[in-house]
Formats: sequence, structure tokens, C-alpha cells
Amino acid sequence: MDTAKRMNQLVVELNRHNRLYHELDAPEITDWEFDTLFRELEALEGAHPQLVRADSPTRYVGGTPVPEILPFVHQIPMLSLQNGYKREPPEEDPWIDLRDFEERVRRVLGADAPAVITYVVEPKLDGLAMELVYEERRFVRGGTRGDGVTGEDVTHNLRVIPSVPKVLPPSAPARLSVRGEVLFDLPGFERMNAAREAAGERRFENPRNSAAGTMRQLDPRSAAGRPLHFYAHSAAVVSERVPSHHELLTRAASWGFVVNPLNRLCNGIEEVIAAVADIERLRADLPYEIDGAVVKVDSAALQDALGFVTRSPRWAAAFKYPPPTAQTRLDSVLFSVGRTGAVTPVANLAPVRVGGVTVRNATLHNEHQLTRVLRLREKDLVEIRRAGDVIPEVLGAIDEPGREARPFVAYPETCPQCGAHLVREPNPDDPDKVLIRCPDKLGCPAQARGAIRHFASRLAMDIEGLGEKLIDQLVTHGLVKRPSDIYTLTKEQLVGLERMGELSAKNLIDAIEVSRSRPLERALMALGIPMVGEATARDLARHFGSIDALLAAPVTELTGVFGVGENVAKAVRAFFDEPGNIEEIGRLREAGVKFPAVARVVSATTFAGKTFVLTGTLPTLSRDAAKAKIEAAGGKVTGTVSKKTDYVVVGADAGTKLDKAQELGVPTLDEAALLGLLEGSV
Ligand code: IVH
Repeated sequence: MDTAKRMNQLVVELNRHNRLYHELDAPEITDWEFDTLFRELEALEGAHPQLVRADSPTRYVGGTPVPEILPFVHQIPMLSLQNGYKREPPEEDPWIDLRDFEERVRRVLGADAPAVITYVVEPKLDGLAMELVYEERRFVRGGTRGDGVTGEDVTHNLRVIPSVPKVLPPSAPARLSVRGEVLFDLPGFERMNAAREAAGERRFENPRNSAAGTMRQLDPRSAAGRPLHFYAHSAAVVSERVPSHHELLTRAASWGFVVNPLNRLCNGIEEVIAAVADIERLRADLPYEIDGAVVKVDSAALQDALGFVTRSPRWAAAFKYPPPTAQTRLDSVLFSVGRTGAVTPVANLAPVRVGGVTVRNATLHNEHQLTRVLRLREKDLVEIRRAGDVIPEVLGAIDEPGREARPFVAYPETCPQCGAHLVREPNPDDPDKVLIRCPDKLGCPAQARGAIRHFASRLAMDIEGLGEKLIDQLVTHGLVKRPSDIYTLTKEQLVGLERMGELSAKNLIDAIEVSRSRPLERALMALGIPMVGEATARDLARHFGSIDALLAAPVTELTGVFGVGENVAKAVRAFFDEPGNIEEIGRLREAGVKFPAVARVVSATTFAGKTFVLTGTLPTLSRDAAKAKIEAAGGKVTGTVSKKTDYVVVGADAGTKLDKAQELGVPTLDEAALLGLLEGSV
């Protein structure tokens, strides 16, 4: 039968079985049979994307939006890998770190070390680490790595990735948690970008960040349409004994997981080195991004014998390759104006492929970098570098005949967006990093656009329908200058804008209306306070309970908020000290934005009546910050240890107070334990 016919048949059959199962509760086939048909269709669609039908079940199965992303707690913490690097000259042996690794393994194993140790070498995939949990051979949930203990539950998006098996065959163990990486395939990524460009949408710059962004979407339809893949590389829970890593990979493949075809079993470290070098040679042509190789001791018994150091196994290590570089021509330098008015130089480049991705822009960081360090001249031939998760950067200009005759790239005196004279704000911490800003908060369309986009964005006021293009139009037509102006818009003003009919205008007005009642934390986030993101906005809202309490808070009280450090506290205070910001808050309130008060969840009870003594230097908190946090939770900080002291908080180079505490039997805490206690108190 021809492919198109078979695909049509599968779509019709699967849709019928879906209805039988979900709507009529009368399935005619087993889940396993359903999944087999489903995968056949997925495979055919993967090979013939032009034949994918709009009503294909692969496009909607499991595809229901979630109201919010919930935490995902790993059954077993997700560890990281010790890093080694491919060394560059003057180091004579580029693979010295690999030899060191084998030596460490041998040292720990001692007399138990076999004459030849068997390893598995794998590419280190530059994607998003994920855990997939299977119960009774069904995919039940999956989540991101997060901090290794708690990540984010992205089950709804994992369900729409074809290479995530939804049901495992009877040969698979009943309980299984598989770990691996989700990543974009590069040809698919380029195709998707071409399609986005054709539709007038913004290109995605970086496959890894875009994959992360896609996986965090609430509506799985974004993920469903994108070329995402899951590669399995390890397991956290397997309800059967598997004697070696290679055997685990082989079995995982037989259970339906995609494992990387470049994984290789190697006898002894010389074979490992050859394999790691081979993978590097293949790197530029791989259809996905890697940033190194991972070497794992194969035998499960040896893995057990080797065990773990704090956060990583002793039996595995990552070896990173140098990030890829390329040369290209500098077309021009663009000075972009952010929502706070900060002006940053961006290199506009002749498109060039670096590590499988086409790069057109690269950061030049700041004025110092552009004019003092790089000293770029117009139309320079430049070397750029693209390291996995960061923006590509310009490393320097290549010398060539005639270069000296070309003028240096000049930093503008006036705002490229509004013409205002730029101001230089010295950075007391780093004189090289003067901040160059456009001072015209209201007159500058770039700042207005940025502030309004932020205000309306999903994590802030979440005004559905108020997207980038519409905001650009509203600002260009002078209808809005600042976020509060959104609330004065009328339907009549909207109708007549591009792509705005009666219905969409009405919907937008309704969405704006709804946004007036967003919870305090969202409204705070929407204000665009420097350094205040989603989490900090929530901490502030919970701590203060109302906008007025927050507005009045001095820095000392702000540092007492759980999750707020000194720099953030200062940034918040500075923001509220600026009359323009207070006026805007006033206008928002007048326009009916409620900033609704919430119950304060700081309990002053856990630490109430408890006395603390601080000694030594804590790793992240200053003494004042630690004190403020303890006091905010109702505790007291004193200077001397006595029998009445409840806890001594101990940092590096602790002095006699620690001796005293031990002598009196007073419990001691390190910073992490203190923060843990505090967290338990909110
Ligand atoms: S095994 C105990 N194998 O690298 C650690 N990890 O630093 C088990 N990664 O985010 C991890 N490719 O997700 C392993 N072939 C591979 C990998 C790999 C990429 C990621 C992993 C984690 C990071 C570890």
C-alpha cells in the first residue's frame, strides 16, 4: 500500500479508537496495540511531514493545556557530572583529563580494579535534562531537572513529543524512570525558523533555550508543532537488576526509547580517548547540538563500588569540547534599547553557520568591550563564538589589508530610537561597565514598547491578545506611552488597527478588564522593577501583603524577605524612590488596577522567642541579611552564646563562639540549614 494511503488509514483508525476509548468507554484494542499503530503513524509522519493531516491524532493526543506549571519532585535527586575539558596548548596532551579520570577510578577501586576497565562513551547532548516516569508501563509524568531535587512538571508537553513512548511493551519493567535530554533537531529548527520568518514572526536564536521555552508553555500545541526529540541516557529507577550501563541502553532501546547511535562500548582508556575524539570530529555534522562527551564506567557492580561524591557519581564524567567558532563579516552595529532604557551594542553579521546553527547577531556586551577591548572597525571580518546556552559573542577582529583605513565603529550620542541625549551612569562596582541609558522613559518608543510588553506578558498581567505586533502599533500611533494607558483604550480606538476587527477589539477590551484584578504578585511583577522576576515578586507579595506596605519598606526590611538579597532590596527601594514610578502606580490604581491585598504568610511564630548567634562568614548571606531574615521570621539575634541560645549559625572561619556552642551543647546550623528552617517558616 502506498504511504499516503496507509497514513490516512491510520489517522481514521486511531481517531476511531480514541473516540471508543475516551468518549464511549468501549475500547476495542489494548493500549499496547493502540500505541503500536500510533507509533507507526508517528514514524511515517516524521519521514513525510508534508503528508501530516490536520486531524492526525499525533497533533492532539494528550494535548490539553494546563492552568499552571507545577513542581516535579524527583524520586532520586538528579545529579550532575564532574567536568573535564579537552585541553588546549600549551598542555601537551589534550586528553589529560580523561587519563586523570581513569586514574581516579583505579585509585578508588584499588585492588578490585580489573586489568581493563570497560566504559561507555556517549555524546553529551546539549538539551534539557528530563525525567520520564512510567508506572505499570505507562507514561504517567515527566519533569525538568530544576535544581536536581525539584524541577517543573511538563508532562503535558512531553506527551506530544513522538520519541517519548507513551506505553511500554510487556517486556519492560513495571516501574521505570528514564532520564535523558529533550532537544531540537537542527534541520527541523532551521525549517521552523524559515516558516516563522515567512509568517512575520521572530526567529528563535538558540535551540536549547527555545526548547526550554517550548517545554514551559502551558498549551502543548506549541510543543506539538515543533521538531523536539527525547534521547534516553540513564535511568533512576528500574524494577529489575541490569548488570551494566550498555545493557541498560540496549534494553531501553528495546522498550521503545531512542538512544543515541553514537554511544560506544570501549575497553580501556585508549579506546575511550579514540571514541571521544571521533565524536568531536563528527560534531559539526550532527543533526543536534552536543558540547562534549560523557564517559561512564560500564559495570553496575563497579559503579556501586565507586559510589558518589557530593553531587556527582564517581563512575562518570563529562569532557567538554571547546565551543565552536567561525569567521564572518560585520554588516553593522545596532544599538538596542531595552525596557529600562539601557543601550547595548549588537553586531549584525553576514549569516554564518556555527555549530550547526545559523548566526546573524552577536552580542558586543557594552561600550567598553566594543570601543576599548575589541576596537571594531566598520565592516570588520570578525571571529565569533557560540557556546551552548549563551548568546553568540564577537571575540575579535581579524587583521586584513586595508583594515586600518576604515573608521572605528562609533557609539551613538543620542538614542537611536527617540533621539534623546544618552546619559552615562557609572557603575560603582566596575568602572569598566558604565551603563549608557536613554533617559526619556516616556518619549522613547523602545522603552514604552518594552515596558508594555513586559506588563502584558504571560507571567505578569497576562493580557491575552496584547502581543508584540499590536503593542508596536499602539505605540506608533501614540495610543499608549506607558502601561497605565492600556486601561484608557476604547474599542473604537482599536477597531481600525491592522488585523483588528470588532470581535478581536471586544475580546481585547475584555482581557484588559480581567487583568485589573490580577493578584498582587502578578501586578508587582508587571511593574518591571529591576531584578524582580516571578519568584521575587511572589516573595514580596507574601511578605508585605499589600502594595502600600511594600512601598513604605526600608532596605533593611526588604533584606529580611525570604529570597531577597541585598542587591535586590536596593533595586526595589531605588525603584520606589523614583517619583515617576510612584506616579505610574497611582495612575494604574486610578485606572482600576486593584493590587489586591493578600494574607501575609510570613509566620513570625516558628522563630518567635528563639535566639540566634551568628559566627564566621556565611557563603552567600551577609551578616546583616542573615540577621534581617531571622528577625523577619520572629527570631532574635544576639552576640554571645549562652545556655539560652537556641541556635548558633556557623560560617567559614568561625571563632570561639563555635567552641562555646559545642561546649554548651547548643545546636549549630550552616547557612543552608538556616535557610531551610526559614523556608519552613513561610
Ligand atoms: S548521564 C549522574 N549522559 O549532562 C549523571 N548525562 O552534568 C547522569 N547529559 O543535565 C547523567 N548528555 O542531562 C548523561 N549522554 C549523557 C548526557 C548527559 C547530556 C546531561 C545531563 C545533565 C548533565 C550532567
